[in-house]
Amino acid sequence: MTAHFVVSGTDTGLGKTVFAAALTNALGGYYWKPVQAGLDEETDSQTVSRLGGVPSERILPEAYKLSTPASPHLSAQIDGTSIDPRRLVPPDVDGPLVIEGAGGLMVPLSENLVFADVFAAWQIPVILCTRTTLGTINHTLLSVEAMRHRAVPILGIAFIGNENLETESIISKLSGIRSLGRLPILTSLTATGLSRAFHDNFDRSAFGEVSP
Ligand SMILES: Nc1ncnc2c1ncn2[C@@H]1O[C@H](COP(=O)(O)OP(=O)(O)OP(=O)(O)O)[C@@H](O)[C@H]1O
Ligand SMILES: [Mg+2]
Repeated sequence: MTAHFVVSGTDTGLGKTVFAAALTNALGGYYWKPVQAGLDEETDSQTVSRLGGVPSERILPEAYKLSTPASPHLSAQIDGTSIDPRRLVPPDVDGPLVIEGAGGLMVPLSENLVFADVFAAWQIPVILCTRTTLGTINHTLLSVEAMRHRAVPILGIAFIGNENLETESIISKLSGIRSLGRLPILTSLTATGLSRAFHDNFDRSAFGEVSP
């Protein structure tokens, strides 16, 4: 199997899709958003296509496209459906695959299933995207505990935001999880600028192996 990665995070709206676009582009890989909740704005797949310059044949179709921007369990209910975990099977592709969850690890897909359970079943290493702003130490450490509790493999932490070395350092020390790098806030978010920022701030070789 070629390299598979899950991009998750401590929260919604923190830059997972932007990071996933940069990673998919850097790896020359495929992108898959299994559950898209909210269809009025640009979808995450469309953002990855635009910001990662990822050709459409390398953006795999979502398993669920739900109309309401809400927690997937609720969004599914509003659409009169429910999420069947048997449909959440990573597609078979001939290159690296970047999979993005919705929101954070403990986001419900149904009344008895959260995203972290699915990641645990997949045993695909998770890249935990976290903010660098106040509050992130607590959210990051809680997220790491939730993954460890379920034996979810963790590749590392991708910080997103302005530099905050003390925060990044205490998170790495207390969690024992390595930092993969930090994506700065880009004043103008373009495909070229994002690609450059990724190359300047992340070591591609970090995405080749899984830490214990
Ligand atoms: N590195 C960055 N520089 C500048 N703007 C960013 C950066 N990362 C994210 N943003 C902006 O922040 C917003 C949220 O980003 P994004 O959609 O990637 O979040 P997300 O974590 O994927 O959210 P969701 O949980 O809804 O999937 C977007 O408007 C995006 O343009
Ligand atoms: Mg997203």
